Amino acid sequence: MVGVTGGIAAYKTVQLVRLLVKDGHEVHVVPTEDALRFVGMPTWEAISRHPVTTSVHDDVARVRHVALGQAADLVIVAPATANTLAKMTAGLADDLLGTTLLATTAPVVVAPAMHTEMWRHPSTVHNMAVLGERGVIVVGPEDGELTGGDSGPGRMSEPGVIFEAALAATAGGAGDLHGLRVVVSAGGTREPIDPVRYIGNRSSGRQGVAVALSAAERGADVVLVAAHVDDGVLAAASARPGLRVVRAGTAAELGEAVTAEAGAADVIVMAAAVADYRVAEVSPLKRAKESAPVGGITLDLIENDDILAGLVRRRREGQTIVGFAAETPGDGETLLDRGRRKAARKGADLLAVNEVGWSKGFEAADNAVTIIGADGEVIGARRGSKDDVAEALWDAVRMVRESQAKTK
Ligand code: CTP
Repeated sequence: MVGVTGGIAAYKTVQLVRLLVKDGHEVHVVPTEDALRFVGMPTWEAISRHPVTTSVHDDVARVRHVALGQAADLVIVAPATANTLAKMTAGLADDLLGTTLLATTAPVVVAPAMHTEMWRHPSTVHNMAVLGERGVIVVGPEDGELTGGDSGPGRMSEPGVIFEAALAATAGGAGDLHGLRVVVSAGGTREPIDPVRYIGNRSSGRQGVAVALSAAERGADVVLVAAHVDDGVLAAASARPGLRVVRAGTAAELGEAVTAEAGAADVIVMAAAVADYRVAEVSPLKRAKESAPVGGITLDLIENDDILAGLVRRRREGQTIVGFAAETPGDGETLLDRGRRKAARKGADLLAVNEVGWSKGFEAADNAVTIIGADGEVIGARRGSKDDVAEALWDAVRMVRESQAKTK
């Protein structure tokens, strides 16, 4: 069953329905009233080869308002507007699509489409998180041109992409990480100075979130411990089935959350940028300049625990621990030399080393890493999108775990 809601991307859903029908599926289209302002009833009927209605009052004898949902093997909502996602979250059923969605136990795939501001609005972010917890599969939205000349995340995925995701949802195929329990930390911690100020870092959380998403896509059961992560980056992760998000603010909170989740984990990836120091005395009130010494102040900092080192100390048999090292090259020492020293110091099974600088590594979509093993041997290297790097990391994890299993 394909639900269509009121967005201009509805024209692309015509192609999606066509792909499904051509692939041999029986497709019932349930548009909302608003959707019909974009693409009319005759188009949906012709393309799906079935009668179409938006009303719960048609075909009452056959209880159409629940029958469609009960009979569906899969429900796709494309485009899914911000309004529809909010209604789905609240369980509103004021039209045929709403009743159908409440009556179904089939997998639900949504393809959001809206303006970037609406996608990033806390209400939508919250709704996506709730829907994700319920197992709704989210495809997109893509980053690209939007109506009215704007551009940014919010563009509905192409029909072919939604089609593939829909087939995968019904196939329920197990990925190569199926059965693995994974904990990934991501983002930058923030160490408070007073109620309004903090010491932070430039981590956007993109790489860590990509690592978590890639593991979930490959079938792992994932806990993402997220420190500060850029707006919009977390929304996709929150909505991913098989992935649970735990929020943390400071290094101490992140350490606590990761350590609590680590007990049951097979693989732990510390991709978070953890502050090495915290402020010794956090002021309960905003520090005022007028009560500070003239000319400058000094903040005393205390060293934070090294979470990764702690995990390595408590490592269980069969557990794989992965660290990240963001390095700036210098003093004639190569990046790899620095990475190797860090790998030896930390004792992790794998260390992903990447170069950072004022314009490298942070906030960008692309990254380049070299993955080294516990003895400093290079196990993999990848330059490309953060998704590509995440894939390479999981390939390396698999390789290490397979060779560890063989030597047991
Ligand atoms: N890390 C951690 N706990 C800390 C600091 C870092 O678990 N208190 C982890 C990071 O998540 C990362 C790895 O250790 O996986 C390397 O982080 P990095 O900051 O490069 O390491 P440091 O030991 O702080 O080394 P440096 O002196 O280069 O900052």
